[in-house]
Amino acid sequence: MMALSETHLREKAAQYGQSHLFRFWDGLSSSERAGLLDSLSQVDFALMDTLIKSWVLHEPAPEHFSRIEPVNVIPPVDENSDRTALDAGEQALRDGRVATFVVAGGQGTRLGFDSPKGAYPIGPITGKSLFHYHAEKIHNLQRRYETVIPWYVMVSPTNDGQTRDYFRQEQYFGLRPDNILFVRQRVVPCVDATGKYILEGPGQPAVSPNGHGGSIQALVDGGAIKHAESRGIDVLCYFQVDNWAVKVADPWFIGYHCLANAAMSSKCHRRNDLREAVGVHCLCDGVYRVIEYSELDLYPQLLERDATGAPRYFAGNPAIHILSTGFVKYLNEHFDAFPWHKAHKKIPFVNEQGALIKPDAPNGYKFETFVFDALRFVPHPPVALEIRRPGEYTPIKQYEGVNSVVAARQSMADYWGKWLEKAGCSIPRAASGACCVPIEISPAFALTEEEFIAKARGRTLVIGDGVAVDAAGECIHPPPRR
Ligand code: UD1
Repeated sequence: MMALSETHLREKAAQYGQSHLFRFWDGLSSSERAGLLDSLSQVDFALMDTLIKSWVLHEPAPEHFSRIEPVNVIPPVDENSDRTALDAGEQALRDGRVATFVVAGGQGTRLGFDSPKGAYPIGPITGKSLFHYHAEKIHNLQRRYETVIPWYVMVSPTNDGQTRDYFRQEQYFGLRPDNILFVRQRVVPCVDATGKYILEGPGQPAVSPNGHGGSIQALVDGGAIKHAESRGIDVLCYFQVDNWAVKVADPWFIGYHCLANAAMSSKCHRRNDLREAVGVHCLCDGVYRVIEYSELDLYPQLLERDATGAPRYFAGNPAIHILSTGFVKYLNEHFDAFPWHKAHKKIPFVNEQGALIKPDAPNGYKFETFVFDALRFVPHPPVALEIRRPGEYTPIKQYEGVNSVVAARQSMADYWGKWLEKAGCSIPRAASGACCVPIEISPAFALTEEEFIAKARGRTLVIGDGVAVDAAGECIHPPPRR
């Protein structure tokens, strides 16, 4: 987008009470001036004005619902499930109607990793990254269904360049680069408690990514929707980069979605705790919603237990959805109606003298949209498919503790350890039953236990101080004896 003129932007800023953005103008170099004009050209001043008036200057009353009910879900699939959905999903994959879509705008800061979160080396033996694991799953499905599954990767302005460089350096994990499209999400200014945009440098407004709801606009802005339409793709399988275990394009889920002719479908899992940091799927006055975990106290019934002591509103949000291409276009055209959420944060700012101050307490607001808010706009009730966690949902939010790198590596060992035992290997286990050595099986080799057992037959798998099986089914750790 071409930068707008200084005069135009000064007028705009003045119109919305933001003239302080030009406070340091006289002391800025020409490139800093150009940078400021460029940043301000991308700001939707009218939208910001609405957000400031309705979220900052007045505390909005929480939405009121007269009735909140648990959602109806399709129970987890197993070998006894009716295979009609699986057949439909497999057919959609074979027909080339499916693309995968990951939101990966975040950095690995909470993991102590100063790079895109998707580049985090999660593999305990191979050091393979989250992106690499997701790519290997795509490889497997493409081979199995003799199809092409494009991959749309949403990045933020912070990690766009780094993410593209990383994919290039890894040679796109063997996928064809023209089947991978990076789409960049937009940013919105951060504001202080009086509604003024915060300057984090004399010529630099503080901005933050507009949340994963911004993926709707990013898919359109970045050309992914055009790309999808040109290839006859109408099924977009959405997931978060931090969920190492996700089934990136699950044929069962795709099948249920297609058979229902749904605009959007969602997976859910049983909440294991009332305060688990996951959104809750529920029906609010008959409309399907996800209430975010940070908002649960506004709706105390979501903290009720059933007769067995389990959460009555059982359906947690693993952030795995399918959106139809047409529905993304519809949402993009009606994005003005999309709800926003604010977060009170510590935002570094420059003082009157232009010195950078890092506040000790929250001093401003960031605004975000959430993709699951799209569920309230679906024309028919969405398909909700319950999943079991192992092999589907292992998010990585921190290094140690719940939902951590350490926990994810243990879950890999426990999950794949069972496959190895079924294939006749003996796995060292602690008294608790937990597997004691690291295990990695390339998803490009096997995505399911059945596939692994069938393919591992006749191979030598040695379990040393751990085991890693590569895409070709070779044991690369321990190293093969020559
Ligand atoms: C999120 C969900 C929560 C869900 C949980 C499942 C939100 C608000 N809540 O919580 O309902 O139960 O995951 O693990 O997301 N991202 C972007 N751009 C952004 C913001 C986020 O790409 O502007 C991506 C991140 O890279 C990450 C994902 O979205 O992959 C989730 O963000 P995160 O902040 O980790 O969400 P949670 O609070 O864990």
